[in-house]
Amino acid sequence: MDISELISANTRYCAVLGHPVRHSASPAMQNAGFCALGLPWRYLAFDVEPGGLASAIAGAKAMKFIGLNLTVPHKVAAVGMMDELDETARRLGAVNTVRFEARDESGVWRPLGQFDEVRGLEVRSVGFNTDADAVSRVIKSDLGVELRGAVALVLGAGGAGRTAALQLAAEGVGELWLVNRTVAKAEALAAEIRQRWLGVKVQIGYPACAVDVIINATSLGLGRDDPLPFDPKVFDMKRAKSVFDMVYRPAETLFLRVGRAAGCRCTNGLGMLLYQGASALELWSGLRAPIDQMRRALEIEVYGK
Ligand SMILES: NC(=O)c1ccc[n+]([C@@H]2O[C@H](COP(=O)([O-])OP(=O)(O)OC[C@H]3O[C@@H](n4cnc5c(N)ncnc54)[C@H](OP(=O)(O)O)[C@@H]3O)[C@@H](O)[C@H]2O)c1
Repeated sequence: MDISELISANTRYCAVLGHPVRHSASPAMQNAGFCALGLPWRYLAFDVEPGGLASAIAGAKAMKFIGLNLTVPHKVAAVGMMDELDETARRLGAVNTVRFEARDESGVWRPLGQFDEVRGLEVRSVGFNTDADAVSRVIKSDLGVELRGAVALVLGAGGAGRTAALQLAAEGVGELWLVNRTVAKAEALAAEIRQRWLGVKVQIGYPACAVDVIINATSLGLGRDDPLPFDPKVFDMKRAKSVFDMVYRPAETLFLRVGRAAGCRCTNGLGMLLYQGASALELWSGLRAPIDQMRRALEIEVYGK
């Protein structure tokens, strides 16, 4: 391909900002999506330190970027840096997708990606969170679990565990069990859920009954010799119907191996990465994301096949 087909003065940009960001698979996934849709857009990755986040977002806005993704450690800090917050970001207190918007001739705010001419436009940033919907989509579509009334066990109460627990509560699970190494964090999360979703029974610890889905939202599994993220002396995996590990590198963690051996339906974190990215692309472009091409690009980028 001629280099001018890759980047020219008419190319428009999106980017992920993180620290670190070198291992992000988002550029491969999003560029495959842009290419499949025939969009003259490119997706970049920038290592931005926390102290530089506000100026990086302001710079992207000034340069009329179409949108941004934010990853560790920027999702919470970005909330206070947006001109507007979508309900998804407000509910979670975290932004993973920014859409830049401009006013059209009739004064209506529209995604910047839908404007051919960007000169002289008044631009604003709108913060969204597409991680939460991605959690639901994995559990419903990939694991086939109906969330309303379900029994769920969430391991971890960091950023990803909080997102999963709040989303499961919003989906109307019947019983939500939370386990975290630092118990006080799980307790604070449980208190927040009790206050916001009166119908959800939230408890700390392991359920004695059958569980529809167990989610690993701890960082355990990223390391080759990491132990299981739950206590097998207290909880028997045979009690779980399905298992979702948010870790995707390696493709199969000890947690997933134990789940498979117990006969559970299992999935790793690649689906969550894919679905949050597909939703971001849809927010920026207004088009349906080419999910198969994006999944394929992710698999090649992450697993080399
Ligand atoms: N697939 C995806 O798209 C996706 C998206 C987001 C995150 N993730 C994955 O989800 C995991 C968590 O990410 P995060 O953003 O929530 O990180 P985080 O905010 O740093 O939280 C880390 C969580 O792991 C727990 N933890 C860490 N080391 C532990 C250990 N040795 N023993 C027991 N628990 C331990 C922490 O417990 P304490 O509270 O006690 O420290 C906390 O609950 C990571 O593996 C990340 O890659 C995947």
